[in-house]
Amino acid sequence: MTLFIPGPTEVRKDVLAAMAKPQIGHRTVEFRELFSSLKPGLRKLLYTELDVLISTSSGSGFWEASIRSCVQRHALHATNGAFSKKWASVAERCGKKVTRIEYPFGKAVKAKDVEEYLQKGQYDAFCMVHNETSTGVASNLEEIAEVMKKHPDVLWMVDAVSSIAGTKIEVDKLGIDICFASSQKALALPAGIAISSVSDKAYAKAANVEGRGYYFDLLELKKSYDKDMTPYTPSIPHLYALQYQLGMFAKEGLEERFTRQRKNADYVRQWAKEQGFTLFSEEGYHSDTIVCLSNTKDVDFSRIKKDLAAKGITMDAGYGKLNEALAAEGKPTTFRIATMGDLTLAELEDFTQQLENYW
Ligand SMILES: Cc1ncc(COP(=O)(O)O)c(C=O)c1O
Repeated sequence: MTLFIPGPTEVRKDVLAAMAKPQIGHRTVEFRELFSSLKPGLRKLLYTELDVLISTSSGSGFWEASIRSCVQRHALHATNGAFSKKWASVAERCGKKVTRIEYPFGKAVKAKDVEEYLQKGQYDAFCMVHNETSTGVASNLEEIAEVMKKHPDVLWMVDAVSSIAGTKIEVDKLGIDICFASSQKALALPAGIAISSVSDKAYAKAANVEGRGYYFDLLELKKSYDKDMTPYTPSIPHLYALQYQLGMFAKEGLEERFTRQRKNADYVRQWAKEQGFTLFSEEGYHSDTIVCLSNTKDVDFSRIKKDLAAKGITMDAGYGKLNEALAAEGKPTTFRIATMGDLTLAELEDFTQQLENYW
């Protein structure tokens, strides 16, 4: 099977093999050595000196952890796609007040809007998705960072679930308080762990928040992290895979890894244009880890998807709810091609060639 979907992404056989090690106890010296060996690579990956916590949950765990731990009362959420909308609803389910900066799907979060809302209201945190996986939109973190610097009392929490390890995100330079990713996206690992940088400001805020629970309490994770442990029994095979993959990132070079994925995306964008498709994402904000295209040729992608599955290729025929909404409006639906993780240009060239056979 080769996966060209925006998560779970293709995981190389050598990465899978790295998971197949005998189990060790999670309160042993061996475990602590494994855990501490991950810290420098994760810090490099996020360009940070902060802690990069590991949760043995998927990325949604950090949606809940960030909100439950660091929002006392009121969060400002930018919603510009399926995942940012979901995070805002999770915050409400955690009992917090939520104000939304709403954008249509396909649009990016704009710094001027964030500024306007932050000037008007009092928020514990501003939450946004950097790379909207549903629409292939990457918002401009540098511009938003300039606004956030003027509001130091508001935590900046960024879901970079599908961009960390795919796009350079300089956490310290940008001043992001919480920045997280799932393992099954650009990290090119199986689903099951998530990572997040956490600032001292975020920890300090958490100390005054009631009802943080246990499993997703950032202070609980931090207490164990400082002892090279987790508060609970973690998925140790995932940690071996992460250790191996961080080594592979160092071998490839982080800059080279980002460039490869950008070139993958450039190739798919150019190919799509030549084939007569248009980009769904707003001009100037195209993601380099997922290309989201409007099916302007009205190709039957659900049939192609089934056909390719029989050949061992997994493709995406668009984000379900978005396509339903577009179809109801009589607009072209979307389909997405992942360019992230360990995918190579040669694999994408082969995949797009296969697609061309259908029209
Ligand atoms: C941007 C974004 N945020 C959050 C999630 C949820 O992550 P997980 O499925 O790892 O819980 C996803 C999943 O695709 C995503 O793309």
